[in-house]
Parts: sequence; C-alpha cells; structure tokens
Amino acid sequence: MTALTKLTDTYALNNGTKIPIVGFGTWQTPDGQVAYDSVLAALKAGYRHIDTAAAYGNEESVGKAIADSGVAREDLFVTTKLWNADHGYEATKKALATSLTKLGLDYVDLYLIHWPNPAPMRDHWEQLNAESWRAMEEAYADRKARAIGVSNFRAKHLDALLKTAKVVPAVNQIFLNPSDTQDEVVAYNRAHDILSEAYSPLGTGKIFGIPELKQLADRYHKTVAQVVLRWSLQHGFLPLPKSVHADRIEQNTDLFDFELSTADMQTIDGLHGVAGLAKDPDQTDF
Ligand SMILES: NC(=O)c1ccc[n+]([C@@H]2O[C@H](COP(=O)([O-])OP(=O)(O)OC[C@H]3O[C@@H](n4cnc5c(N)ncnc54)[C@H](OP(=O)(O)O)[C@@H]3O)[C@@H](O)[C@H]2O)c1
Repeated sequence: MTALTKLTDTYALNNGTKIPIVGFGTWQTPDGQVAYDSVLAALKAGYRHIDTAAAYGNEESVGKAIADSGVAREDLFVTTKLWNADHGYEATKKALATSLTKLGLDYVDLYLIHWPNPAPMRDHWEQLNAESWRAMEEAYADRKARAIGVSNFRAKHLDALLKTAKVVPAVNQIFLNPSDTQDEVVAYNRAHDILSEAYSPLGTGKIFGIPELKQLADRYHKTVAQVVLRWSLQHGFLPLPKSVHADRIEQNTDLFDFELSTADMQTIDGLHGVAGLAKDPDQTDF
C-alpha cells in the first residue's frame, strides 16, 4: 500500500514508472485562457500530474501553461489520449505526433486509448485496438510515451487486447466515484496489475448534492470534495479532480490530514447510483 502523505506521493506502474497519486483533470476546460490559468494554478498548488486528451481540444493551452510554469519536465507527469477517429496503426502514430506538437513536449508520460469501441467502427473495434496498441508499443519503445494504457475498457475489451499485446496496459482510466465503483473492472485491473485511474471522481459535480456525504464531511471538518477524493485514495485509485477555480483546485489537494474509518468507507461504498453511472462503452453514440 502506497503511503498517502502528500500530493506528490507516487504509485508504481507495472513498468516501474512512478505516477503522482492525484492528477489534475481538464475535460470541459475551454482551450485558451481558462485552460492556461487553471493548469498554471494547479501546478502552483502542487499538482505534478495533468490529465488531458486530444478530444478536449486544450492540449496547446495545457502545454503552454506547463512551459511557463517553470516546473522541470522530469518532475511532471502528463497524460493525453488517442481519440476515436484516430484508431488504427498509422492514424495512431500521427495522432500521438500531433498531440506532442500541440503540447510542446518530446514525450508524454502516459498515452491512453480513450474509448475501446467507437460507434463508427463498431464492426471491427478489436482489430483497430490491436493496431493502435502496436503503434503505441512502438511509441513506448521509442520513448515517446513512458507508459501506455487504456480508458473505458471493460474485461472483454482488455481480454481482446491482451491476445496480441506485448506490453500489458499500465493504466485503465474509468468512471469511478462513490456512485459507481465498477467492481468488476477494478478487480480485473488489479488481477492484471493495471492501475485504476478514477475519472469524474466528483461525479462531474453531481456528488455535491448527496446529504450523506455532506454529513460525513461535516463530521471530519472537511469538504465533500475532500472526503470523496480521500475515499478514492484509500481504495488505491488515482483520482483526477477537475476545476477551473483556483480555490477549489487548492481545496482538492488538502487530503492528507485525515483518514476515513472503515465504517465510513463502507457507507460511501453504499452510495451506488446517487450521482450517475459509467457509460457502457459498447453503447456510446460517438
Ligand atoms: N477518460 C475519459 O473518458 C474521461 C471522461 C471524463 C473525465 N475524464 C478525466 O477526469 C477528469 C475529472 O472528471 P470530470 O471533469 O468529469 O469532473 P470531476 O472532477 O468529477 O468534477 C468536476 C466538477 O466539480 C466541480 N468542482 C471541482 N472541485 C470542486 C470543489 N472542491 N467544490 C465544488 N465543486 C467542485 C467543478 O467545477 P469548476 O470547474 O467550475 O470548479 C466541475 O463542475 C476530467 O477533467 C478528465 O481529465 C476522463
């Protein structure tokens, strides 16, 4: 079990790469000043792990904030993701090159297949994932990505990928918060030494209306966001909270001066469905 003492503590991925235990989310953060300011605020608040994606359309501003932050590249962990339209061997190589250019980086720390089964390619997703993965394995060998992984994959998608993969994914980034603990996927990830990253750790803002969480937070003299992020860490997940407000960005780092009891962890585990559920990746319309 990794010690939970500060934002820059790390988990070790299955290839030995170290990854800071909390990442800063940037989905729905508009490109330009907002993305620039929020990433800069996050780096100032002490985050050293930034999560973006080609599909978020903000890689350029994220990269600019990284460049201007003064934080040394080797002290940062940057993730981006392969979008659905770019599945396949050649398209993946090109997409990673484009992301690197936009980010202004020579390498990313983690490159993920964003979704396993894009709607327009639903009749041959398995083959396309295998081809994308081969391109990602080459990028990993060429040190353009320090680790490679997947997102929104369920057991069947991982089983299919592992038929031809030479490198086991280091990470599976999934919708993971008290409202959906995705027990089956998490168990699969654990069994294969794949780290479960928790996206939408605050339910994209929906967990703030849950009375049980408010009561718990009051009892610990913490906020709902802090309790839920702490819950994620105590489960061994890697939460990726997003905010565009400096005060919340900072608030979401203050997770290390309290510990949730086993009973309170169980209470939170029991909140299934209160703030939405993970999308079925085989049923998405994108
Ligand atoms: N791989 C995937 O398919 C996928 C999908 C979804 C998300 N993700 C990743 O996971 C990250 C986080 O998920 P998410 O964007 O869905 O949202 P989230 O982190 O679960 O929640 C963010 C929402 O909560 C608000 N918020 C944040 N901190 C708060 C606080 N302390 N008090 C009150 N409100 C607070 C934010 O508002 P303000 O911004 O206005 O402060 C925003 O509306 C994403 O940004 C992205 O990096 C990945």
